Parts: sequence; C-alpha cells; structure tokens
Amino acid sequence: MSNIAVLTSGGDAPGMNATVMSVARNAAYYGMPLIGVKRGYNGLLGRTNNFDDNFVRLDLDTVLNIADMPGTYLRTARCDEFKDPQVREKSAQILRDLDISGLVVVGGDGSFQGAMRLCELGIPCIGIPGTIDNDLSYTEVTLGYDTALNVCVDTVRAIRATSRSHDRPHVVEVMGRHCGDLALYTAEATGAEVVVVPEKRWSVDEIAAQCNRQLDLGNPRMTVVVAEGCWESMAPFDVYKFLKPHGVQVFPGEPMTTERLTQILKYKCNGAEFRHTVVGYTQRGLAPTARDSIFAFEAGALAINLLHKGISNQAIGMKNGKIFHMPMADALAVKRHFNRKLHHLLNAL
Ligand code: F6P
Repeated sequence: MSNIAVLTSGGDAPGMNATVMSVARNAAYYGMPLIGVKRGYNGLLGRTNNFDDNFVRLDLDTVLNIADMPGTYLRTARCDEFKDPQVREKSAQILRDLDISGLVVVGGDGSFQGAMRLCELGIPCIGIPGTIDNDLSYTEVTLGYDTALNVCVDTVRAIRATSRSHDRPHVVEVMGRHCGDLALYTAEATGAEVVVVPEKRWSVDEIAAQCNRQLDLGNPRMTVVVAEGCWESMAPFDVYKFLKPHGVQVFPGEPMTTERLTQILKYKCNGAEFRHTVVGYTQRGLAPTARDSIFAFEAGALAINLLHKGISNQAIGMKNGKIFHMPMADALAVKRHFNRKLHHLLNAL
C-alpha cells in the first residue's frame, strides 16, 4: 500500500498532535504507512536529501504518546517559498518519489491554499482547519479555537478578580489576527464590559466614551477586551501628540498598541488607574480541551477515510457539532460572518 503523509503548518494550534494521532491510527487501520513532514511545507522543499531532516515515519507507538501533548510534534512554520510554482512542482515530485498517495494538511487558510495547489499537481490533499483564530468561515469552529478561548476566559476571570479587589479597570489583548471571535466570545463568557474587534471600526474616543459610561454607572472595575487585529480598522489616532504633553516617553509616529491605549484611557477617563495584560502565546500552548480533542479525532478519521475512498481536495469542518467535508475551493470562498448583534449587545449594556 502506498504511503500517506501529514503535516502541520502555520501557527501551532492545540489539537494538532491529537489530529496526527488520529490520522496515524486510521491509516494503520487501512494498512497505509504514515510519514510525518517536519516544519510544515518547509519539509517539502528538498533543502537536504537526508530523509530524517525533513520526514519522520510515524509508528503507532510514537503517536499514541503525543496525542494529548500541547504544541506540534512535527513542528510547524510559515513558508513563503511555497507560493512559488517552481518550488511547489519540486515538492510534488518529492512526494511522488516517496510514493505518497495522500497528504493531510493541518493549518489555516494559507496552508489550505498550498494544499489546493498540490492537488492541482496531482497530489491528493485533505485540509483540517488547525488555527486558534476561528477565521475559516466554512466551519463553525477551527481546531484549537476552543482551547484558546478557554485560556482567554480563564485569564480574564483571574484579571477580573484582581480588578474587583482594587476597583481598577483593565485592558486585555487576545489573539485572532484579523478575526474578532476570540475577543468577542471571551467578553461574552466573562461579562467584560467593552469589546473591541477588527470587524467594527471604532475610534479611541469611542472606547473612552464606553469606559466613561461604565465609570458613570459606578463600575470602575470594567474589563476592556481588545482583539490584536483591532488597530488595523481603528480610526487614526496620534499617540505621540496625545501622550507627549503628559510627560510619557513616546516617539513620533508610534503605532497604537494595547499598552498605549491603556495609558491614553487613563487620561481620557479622569485618571482611572487602567492596567493591561496581553494574553499572548499561552493561547496556543495548552493541551487541547475535550472539544478540540474530539474534533481532532473525528477530523483525522474522516481525512483518512476520504483518501482511502479516493476523494481529495476537501476541507474538513464542523457544523451543528458534526464533522463534514466540502471542496477546499468552495470552503475558502465562504464569506466571513461576524456576530454584529452580539458585539453591539455586549457594548450596549
Ligand atoms: O494564527 C495564529 C496566531 O496565533 C495569530 O492569532 C497571531 O496573530 C499569529 O498567529 C502570531 O504569529 P507568530 O507565531 O508568527 O508570532
């Protein structure tokens, strides 16, 4: 039986190892030997001819031990070279030489683009949406999102405890790239009073107005959750011009950040003692929740099942709690839906 390969690509997401474990168990069931590609698409570039530099044979013994490990055992990376058609042709040839009859790609939209191009070169691929960002709209959730959301919720709950103790407002930044879901649902789950996302263009003055309204309502312990990508859509604000006269050490042309917003809010909100926390990479580095582990197991099983039936170029997703698949191109064409109603409601209360 010819080989199956699996790679993890882009930012690591909780559940990637569990997916590899599921792919391995299901491939073993069909008697298909499994090869892991190291460092995402980088392992397919043929930088060296030494098999062990770029690949690893995944026997059941190895993968059973990684199933609940955080991170990705295969390593991951982003790979700009793979956008070059000549590079992709070389990678496809490497896969043919290894007698690979199917490749499972676990990653975000960039990784899916790479998989679609490999399909065009005759390499059957299946995509599993591994990213904490929840930015692939064809699926209700992406793999790793639930774990990351739980990290954010735990963090904000801890922060709200200390905010209550000190009667102090706090700004918390969460990840998500251009997608505000992590911020929005963290705010909903924790009762945070203000949430700022890239999907809704706001200004610093509007955020300050929201905070001042909370202060007027007698709530000095509010939480402002900001999505890391919110600055992209924020109305321009001259950080230097505003903070310099207050004696803050600041350089001309400095971009807005969570730390700078926190300093600005202090001056715009009557000296309220704002603090800030950037949740950061802890969102990516935890063992997957039960929900993500279940998603991983079902997605890995479906991927192998499809390849075994000779079906490829499919993206796997979750709808109404059930695993499904659809053509990768159609999946990537689905327009993003942002829950504006919820965003409005959370900020209105
Ligand atoms: O895509 C996952 C993600 O964690 C984003 O939320 C974040 O913007 C980005 O990756 C960070 O990328 P890097 O690991 O390259 O710093």
